Amino acid sequence: MKKALAIIVTATLCTSVCYAGHHRDSLEVIAKRLAPVGQVNIIGQKKKTEAKPAQVARAPMPPKELYDMRCKACHASGAAGAPKISDKAAWEARSKKGLAKLTANAIKGINAMSPKGGCVTCTDDEIGATVKYMLKQAGIKAK
Ligand code: HEC
Repeated sequence: MKKALAIIVTATLCTSVCYAGHHRDSLEVIAKRLAPVGQVNIIGQKKKTEAKPAQVARAPMPPKELYDMRCKACHASGAAGAPKISDKAAWEARSKKGLAKLTANAIKGINAMSPKGGCVTCTDDEIGATVKYMLKQAGIKAK
């Protein structure tokens, strides 16, 4: 009878202790299995905060480059009645309107010249800088 009791006690103890031990192991194994998933999420979040905005503002185009690409076609030759960049007298007469007015006209267009000389992607600031550049090339001090 004593022997039987000992077996029962041992069995009961083992059931709870061994089960608890086994359970702990399982949690550890599960935790290990889950760990990489957690890391992936952290890396994903990090990337999100480091990500650059999709629309990065481009650097303004230097006036000489813009002139060569977008304005020269008319303003070098005088095409369509455009004041030639080499015609100081023509620019002197126009500059009496003031730099702000010349720039505003170049932006909104004037007679045969379409708005911004047709450069839809040019900013107002770029056009302003290019008008200054053109006046300087013509030998006029922009005011
Ligand atoms: C398709 C030809 C053409 C292109 C391209 C062109 N222009 Fe002109 N531009 C003209 C003509 C024509 C005039 C004269 C308009 C008038 O007074 O009747 C003019 C006039 C101007 C004037 C004088 C405006 C005024 O108030 O007197 C400025 C400044 C000017 N252009 C700047 C530019 C700039 C800057 C560009 C390039 C971004 C450019 N133009 C591209 C044809 C052109």
